[in-house]
Amino acid sequence: MTAASCIFVIFGGNGDLARRLLIPALYNMSEADQLPERYEVIGTGRAPLTDEQYRESVKKALQLKKSRSSAALDEFTAHFHYFIGDMSQVAPYAGLKRLLEQAAKNQGFSGSVVFYLATPPDLFCQIPPLLKSSGLLEQAPGAWRRVVIEKPFGHDLNTARELNRILLDAMNEDQIYRIDHFLGKRMVQSILPIRFANTIFEPLWNRNYIRSVQITAAETLGVEKRANYYDQAGALRDMVPNHMMQVTALLGMEPPNSLRASDVQSEKLKLIRAITPFDERTARANAVRGQYTQGKIGGITYPAYRSEPGVKPDSTTETFAALKLSIDNWRWSGVPFYLQTGKRMAFPLTQIVIEFNSAPTHPLPQNLLTLKIQPDPLISLTLATQATEGGHQLRQARICFNYDENLKQNDIGRTGYENLLSDLINGDATHFQSAEQAEAAWGVVQPALDFWEENPSENLEFYPAGSLGPVGARRLPEREGRHWLLLESAPAAAPPLGERAA
Ligand code: BG6
Repeated sequence: MTAASCIFVIFGGNGDLARRLLIPALYNMSEADQLPERYEVIGTGRAPLTDEQYRESVKKALQLKKSRSSAALDEFTAHFHYFIGDMSQVAPYAGLKRLLEQAAKNQGFSGSVVFYLATPPDLFCQIPPLLKSSGLLEQAPGAWRRVVIEKPFGHDLNTARELNRILLDAMNEDQIYRIDHFLGKRMVQSILPIRFANTIFEPLWNRNYIRSVQITAAETLGVEKRANYYDQAGALRDMVPNHMMQVTALLGMEPPNSLRASDVQSEKLKLIRAITPFDERTARANAVRGQYTQGKIGGITYPAYRSEPGVKPDSTTETFAALKLSIDNWRWSGVPFYLQTGKRMAFPLTQIVIEFNSAPTHPLPQNLLTLKIQPDPLISLTLATQATEGGHQLRQARICFNYDENLKQNDIGRTGYENLLSDLINGDATHFQSAEQAEAAWGVVQPALDFWEENPSENLEFYPAGSLGPVGARRLPEREGRHWLLLESAPAAAPPLGERAA
């Protein structure tokens, strides 16, 4: 059930994230009746804007990708207000508090508030203590206060721990929503129903039947205008301890006692804690990193990462990472989980492949369960069938369920934040990260990051933009007699693999 009323305070209300994703998500939610009956949005920022100017800029942002009727925009933006202040300082908080109290009083609101930190990450540590000291995090029956923290959640294990400490000093864990937009994706949300509402899978979902689990997140995008952040972060920090680790947890966890957030969260945490953390030896052997050089995608030549605006010309930051993870528990012992993610790859593809063991009499073709997250979410099962009538030859057949086609709906125009914001309003933290998960996930990869930092050129391979990543990534499964199963890969003739750095 949706809360009856709520105020959204967006810190960084005029920033890129708010304009590109959050506000369009709120708009989509208002159209889909996913917002409380009564709601107001307060954007904060330092720029001296009036409410009217802010509403105009919100309208402009909403018109960017899709034309919308001006009556609908007027109606939607009438809920928007602007609050001027440097929110890293204590001074503006008294004014913000007055504004919230006024809104609650005038409009008969319950006083439930979402504080969304759509700000640069250094403010994640500064704003929560100020919210606390100004009394803005105090809750009353029917009037909750929730804080949303964006990524990156820390830069490493220590900073993630420190951020958790600061947040938990300011409020209770159940007031904190660490958002991970992957958890809002339709196929990612389908993992648990597919696993636990189909009795055919659970008996097979273990080391006796599964040969490998593969998770790929390939993008054709480069670093865009985010060099400032990305050159400090790199592909592993950007994608693995959050998005890919959450997907790993959903794929590997034990059945939860119920679908309540606390039950799901504790199983996910147990799984992440069962992943063997890297050490120097395994970082060398099982963690591959790459950086893109100049190359072509779809006939267009893209510059090397080192030539991108804002990137240091001798940068050793990785734009590609591939890892082999081992999960040390009864269910998964001996089953490799291969993860790979990269920018400027040959095609965009985010997918999971569960590779089952071969039949003893027919080594090939194998059974594969593919969950394609994007583009075009689908689930497919690959089976072996007879190739020709009367013959003994086998061929692969695929049974496929395409979500967009079958449900006659698609996610076009949706930002991926809608379902998560709706859960947040309803107090459902199932699809958010917990404090302990964030730390456990960093704990797994931290030794690999340390190894790379201490040995900046070692292990760094280059791959041309438009390829499938560095050679080392291909070798990761190959040396164990496996290979990447990119079932939905686009071009028939994929460009060549990159070369190892001299
Ligand atoms: C973000 C990363 O969290 O996820 C980006 O910071 C990346 O670098 C993006 O491009 C990928 O998400 P999606 O939804 O575009 O696949």
